[in-house]
Amino acid sequence: MSVLVTGGAGYIGAHVVRLLQERGEEVIVVDDLSTGSASRIGDAELVEVDLATDEAYRILTDTMIDKDVDAVIHFAAKKQVGESVQRPATYYHQNVGGLANLLRAMYDAGVKEMIFSSSAAVYGLPDVDMVPEDVEKHPINPYGETKLIGEWMMRDCGVAWGLKSVALRYFNAAGTGWTDLEDPAALNLVPIILNRLHAGKTPVVFGDDYDTADGTCVRDYIHVMDLANAHLLALDALRNGNAKHGAYNVGTGTGSSVFEVVDGIREISGWDFPIEVSARREGDPGYLVADSSRIKEDMGFQAQFGLADILQSAWDANQLGSKKVQVPTK
Ligand code: WQD
Repeated sequence: MSVLVTGGAGYIGAHVVRLLQERGEEVIVVDDLSTGSASRIGDAELVEVDLATDEAYRILTDTMIDKDVDAVIHFAAKKQVGESVQRPATYYHQNVGGLANLLRAMYDAGVKEMIFSSSAAVYGLPDVDMVPEDVEKHPINPYGETKLIGEWMMRDCGVAWGLKSVALRYFNAAGTGWTDLEDPAALNLVPIILNRLHAGKTPVVFGDDYDTADGTCVRDYIHVMDLANAHLLALDALRNGNAKHGAYNVGTGTGSSVFEVVDGIREISGWDFPIEVSARREGDPGYLVADSSRIKEDMGFQAQFGLADILQSAWDANQLGSKKVQVPTK
């Protein structure tokens, strides 16, 4: 019996691979190494293939049969919102086409358990602050659309051939569980701030005129270790038949503003670095926090870490290597 993890060399995937290995599971990683690297997966076997290519279906089917795979955790996908608006067909090809190949292979190999890396992006701009899973979903970019379509594909395979699946809708993943597993893409607020500081540039806050306590956007930042743990709980729930729903939010239920993130980094770094406030970024909801009661109820999930832990771990990982920190000048 083994677990096949697609995108296991990436940011969240590598954390899940390491946790699975720590509890003694046999792990096979499928990754095209376009953003991740083989050094992140320990001694897990690596199958290097892009899921959206023609050859992927056969390679996946053979691997699942050869390795006696009983469950799949699917991370491999493109995840840049802005890029998805510029290149929608690429996003549909990779995220929807790749998943179609994976599901066809699972059907042929008789693999019936699956965890899918979904996103709060499926909600778009919900008109509630604390978002429960069953609000109407109106994604506002192709990235979010591909995640919602992915959920539909798994649901339909459940009806057609008994696939048991759980979509985990991530809120704002941040931090690092092990210092060598930093997010290599660094496209979100925390790594963007740290990278700008390293480059001697001033971090930019996108708008301080929102209807929130300090005027900046509020998000539900969840430590990547908590997020990774949620996958193990979801795998257990699938295996024990305790996954009652097809989709679960993974968040903390607590919001933090951009200014709170900035202040947290100032405290940890010991610098009162300047920031620049720019205009709002298009498509940013002012307040987006998970109602995470469903995953708590069904799977006993409870986040262990808060914003300070997230920022400290991100800071520690970012200090490694040859990067030299400079104080930004305006
Ligand atoms: C967080 C906050 C920005 C950069 C995105 C995806 C979502 C999910 C997580 C994966 C916002 C502000 C940011 C900066 C800033 N991805 N910000 N200055 O947009 O909440 O969510 O990542 O599934 O689907 O949409 O995350 O990290 O880009 O922004 O002020 O330089 O930080 O406006 O309020 P976001 P983010």
